[in-house]
Amino acid sequence: MAAEPQGSAHPLAILQRNCVRCHTEDKRKGGLLMTNRDALLEGGDSGPAFEAGQSGGSLLIETLFPDAENHMPPKGQLSPTEIETLANWIDAGAPWDAALWDKLRLSPLDGPVTLTALPPAYQPVFAVALSPDGKTLAAGRGPRIEWLGLTPSADGKTLSFTSAGTAEPGPDPVQSLAWSPDGKLVAAGSFRRVTIWDAVTRQKKAELSADLRGRVSALAFTPDSKTLLAADSVDAASGLMLNLDPATAKITRTTEAHRDTIFAIAVSPDGKKFATVSADKSARVWAAADAKPIHTLEGHTGYVLSATFSPTGDRLATGGDDEVIKIWLLETGKQVANFGGVRTGPVTALAWSVDPEKEKQKAAEKDPEKAKLINTDRIAAVNESGQPRVYSDLKEHEGEQTSTGARERNFDAVTGEELTALALDPATRRMFAGSTRGSVVAWEENGKIAVKSEAQAAPLAQAKP
Ligand code: HEC
Repeated sequence: MAAEPQGSAHPLAILQRNCVRCHTEDKRKGGLLMTNRDALLEGGDSGPAFEAGQSGGSLLIETLFPDAENHMPPKGQLSPTEIETLANWIDAGAPWDAALWDKLRLSPLDGPVTLTALPPAYQPVFAVALSPDGKTLAAGRGPRIEWLGLTPSADGKTLSFTSAGTAEPGPDPVQSLAWSPDGKLVAAGSFRRVTIWDAVTRQKKAELSADLRGRVSALAFTPDSKTLLAADSVDAASGLMLNLDPATAKITRTTEAHRDTIFAIAVSPDGKKFATVSADKSARVWAAADAKPIHTLEGHTGYVLSATFSPTGDRLATGGDDEVIKIWLLETGKQVANFGGVRTGPVTALAWSVDPEKEKQKAAEKDPEKAKLINTDRIAAVNESGQPRVYSDLKEHEGEQTSTGARERNFDAVTGEELTALALDPATRRMFAGSTRGSVVAWEENGKIAVKSEAQAAPLAQAKP
């Protein structure tokens, strides 16, 4: 497709790419609508975002600087040139070309983008992945992958992080990570890039950086480690699910899964089904063999941010921007449980495992009818309010009744930080999460924080040779 001259440098393209998805009719974050000039001029909850012709002191421009209190976009950083482009545009009276706006919306492939280095203070952790042997955690911190050795204390009751080096897949923040189930490879996704690393030597083995449209917002390996699934996302425009050969990082199949960002990809334990969840408020379940859609699951009232299959593979849990977790029965595609929703914050990641105590109880119960009633599910969730939770005793239902729920246990909160990613060690049931402030946190099974590692001051500068 032909590139729009100065396509990505155009102020409307900057708004389109970085801002509009949260400032649409259905989202309207901060009360601000950005889909047309009048609405933008009207402003949001704090009043006008700017006066046409006067960028100085305007709320819109101030939110863009790295140290802004309500930083926009919340999980990214515009380059100084982009900020200047927007300021000049406001100074020029904020002219609005509706035809260009529509064209930009419909054609995400607008040629190469110039990448700028991230400010050293901006080191969000958007992704973590645990090695299958539970000994190493990979965390994306800003543009780097950090390898953290997990060293248990002498009594085995707690653990510490040991820094085991870093890798730099590229200049943009790492958005997604996946560790292959055979333990051999780690895949990292960032803007228009997938890199594949040898998990032992930590050397880069393969890279895909052509043929991608946007952010690699999710990654997952199939259980046999032979396929890597990658989500290639452009906000409000496209969400492609790519099958890659992990040895070469070559694309073997492209599926147009959604018309908006894909926030998570989950693979069923038997590898026969994939699930994608999206900003389009739906979750979709796919047959792995031919990428045919099996179900489109609708019910969340906002972005669907997270997904995990049950250990038996018969159900899918999804978590949303609507702060709710829903369980779907895959045989029918019907929702069978719904919980959360009490100011938990958007549910950014989920992990479903089996509660070993309940499993023992179930095995010991002689009466098969009673055994059937013992629910062994254990769903861990992290959210933007910094409060991890574990749900058990799930109550499921048929049909539309509402008396569903789950027993809920709060883990130690990480106050003031938005938790973004989750990895669970099935052996110890330790939980690992990252935050937008750059922390990596581990919790013991009892809910206590075992160790927290914070972003260091200006490591980018130190990393330079
Ligand atoms: C991921 C969602 C998201 C994206 C992307 C995003 N915003 Fe926001 N925006 C928000 C939220 C949430 C608020 C409300 C913040 C608050 O009040 O605490 C907000 C508030 C604002 C406000 C203040 C509105 C008011 O009147 O209070 C401005 C101005 C703004 N955003 C501009 C931008 C610009 C410019 C971009 C792109 C560079 C952008 N936003 C991208 C979520 C987003």
